[in-house]
Amino acid sequence: MSGKLQLKLSQVPPEQVLPTQGGNVHNSPGDARAGTAIILRCYGGVFLIELWAEILALDSLTQATRFFERLGSDYDQAIRRCVPRYAEMLWAIVSYLPGHFRPARILELGCGTGNLSAALLAAFPDAECTLVDLSSDFLAQCRQRFAGSKRIAYQQADFRELNCNPASYDLVASSIAIHHLPDPEKARLFQKVYAWLSGDGVLVYSDQFAGATPGLYQRHLDYWQAEAARLGASQEEWEQWMRHQEESDRHASLPDQMSWLRDAGFASVDCTWRFLLWTVVQAEK
Ligand SMILES: C[S@@+](CC[C@H](N)C(=O)[O-])C[C@H]1O[C@@H](n2cnc3c(N)ncnc32)[C@H](O)[C@@H]1O
Repeated sequence: MSGKLQLKLSQVPPEQVLPTQGGNVHNSPGDARAGTAIILRCYGGVFLIELWAEILALDSLTQATRFFERLGSDYDQAIRRCVPRYAEMLWAIVSYLPGHFRPARILELGCGTGNLSAALLAAFPDAECTLVDLSSDFLAQCRQRFAGSKRIAYQQADFRELNCNPASYDLVASSIAIHHLPDPEKARLFQKVYAWLSGDGVLVYSDQFAGATPGLYQRHLDYWQAEAARLGASQEEWEQWMRHQEESDRHASLPDQMSWLRDAGFASVDCTWRFLLWTVVQAEK
């Protein structure tokens, strides 16, 4: 379990903060708050040295990103072992979009190594695509994968903190990324995406969903374990995924997510594909 000491820089003037030797400072956006400090504080003319620290769990989003980064070049093989029908799911994201739909501006949230991006770029050869991810490693892989393409922009960011102009995208897409957000943040993201989409814009995403009842959810997990083993995942790999899931995943049910999407304003909301936990939802403005 990764507890870190947190430095509240905003609460003390910089000259009063002496970073300790062992202080950890990381550069990734989700981790920018981690660190340790010695603080000099003046109480009635007497300086006291305080070790000001707060133990907290690393931001679960950062943990999620690190888990996938650690897979490194094995990511694409691991995802196919541990996400049954991964390729079919990406196919469904692209293939159920409205027949007349030709998005010119696409935003992808949590692009990873660019598998969905590649499918979208192939389906819409005239579109421009902005790829967003927390991970600089994954964005570097995408830059290499799509080297030379002038249609792609890359942005290292937490997509919860994106502020895009109203109606600036025709399609917002995502694959297995939104489930890392707590439920109220999912609902808030759907509201923001609604505003970013043009008049006939579409949000489409695949993700891991809970079941509508604990019993159905447990069935999903049991069948998933059997499928992962059939696809070649070892017991150790499965346990790693389960640890990642416990630390970082916030699965929500399909009925809940559909109602948050309707509340955000989407006129047509449907599930276009599902296998066990993995679900594709399409929301049209
Ligand atoms: C399971 S991977 C999926 C990658 C890719 N979309 C795919 O289908 O293979 C989840 C990705 O979402 C990114 N991610 C998760 N939460 C994020 C957030 N709030 N902002 C930006 N990226 C995020 C992670 O860094 C990781 O690259």
